[in-house]
Amino acid sequence: MFDLQSMRDQLAAHYDLAPNPALAEQMADIYARMNRVVNPIEWAAHAPYVAAILELKKQRNAVILAHNYMTPEIYHGISDFVGDSLQLAIEATRVEADVIVQCGVHFMAETSKILSPEKTVLIPDMEAGCSLAESITAEGVAEMRRRYPGAPVVTYVNTTAEVKAASDICCTSSNAAQIVAAMEEDTIIMTPDQYLAQNIAQQVPQKNIVWWEGSCIVHEQYTAKDLRDFREWNPGTRLIAHPECPPDVVAEADFSGSTSGIVKYVTEEKPEKALLITECSMASNIADQLPEVEFVGPCNMCPYMKKITLEKVLWSLHTMTEPVEVDPEVAAKARVAVQRMIDLSQKLGI
Ligand code: 13P
Ligand code: SF4
Repeated sequence: MFDLQSMRDQLAAHYDLAPNPALAEQMADIYARMNRVVNPIEWAAHAPYVAAILELKKQRNAVILAHNYMTPEIYHGISDFVGDSLQLAIEATRVEADVIVQCGVHFMAETSKILSPEKTVLIPDMEAGCSLAESITAEGVAEMRRRYPGAPVVTYVNTTAEVKAASDICCTSSNAAQIVAAMEEDTIIMTPDQYLAQNIAQQVPQKNIVWWEGSCIVHEQYTAKDLRDFREWNPGTRLIAHPECPPDVVAEADFSGSTSGIVKYVTEEKPEKALLITECSMASNIADQLPEVEFVGPCNMCPYMKKITLEKVLWSLHTMTEPVEVDPEVAAKARVAVQRMIDLSQKLGI
């Protein structure tokens, strides 16, 4: 658990972190990437942190890999690479720096460590979890195997290293349909997201998909009625849903895809108005590059993703904490499942 006051006192002893309009002005090129969603006063408060982090990254030979749900000041201000879970995993195999700071949730940092065991992988807050990752253990995978003998286990990357190690192959929301379709067997076990599994079952009807009952606390909150009401009250708005939403929600949407699939769709289609049925930062992060699109609410916040803040990233690089460790035996097995996913995705051109 973070002692925020102690962290702040120690950071204040080393860095001048007071809001600084002059520094903010000097870093106007960075601000230009987010000025539609971050006001100048907020930017003056963020700028000293961004400057300190950019300097420390050089000193530590570190790179920052950030998920699409990070806040705009992290996404645009300090990251070296941004993307969805699949893109972040692939990037983790290519990093040349000594240190990876994972701005995302714990399973993403663990995946980076599994793929780059020789690197130091830091997560700025160990409590950045995920309701899906918490919903299943390796024993849960074993139970599914007992229930459905001979069926391969396709596990969403939103899981612990132990669960990945107990699985045959991983998937993300951008490749799940193709991975399931590529399995030889007719019955496929998907863990742990029941809604992703149900959405994939509709896309791949030739397979009998069975699932674990986990769910994402952000996406399960949306209802089909929310979408119908929104469409009625705001005609002409394009509704775009992440596949962690329940299938009746996805059925009401105009498009469904992973977070990078959402970025691609909105970038190509440029609808006049768009409602992203997903985590709040997704729309904020692409608002500046798409000035012609009006992003409308409501959205839901992921409390785990939001544990990662600029000051915790600075603390992480300052103290080189928290290093993510994975038992080497578990990591070796988990790497097989993750690498199979990466290899198959690349073979299929995803
Ligand atoms: P993506 O792989 O689509 O980025 O999703 C990860 C996630 O946690 C969504 O809730
Ligand atoms: Fe997990 Fe949902 Fe948060 Fe993604 S949005 S990290 S699936 S709880």
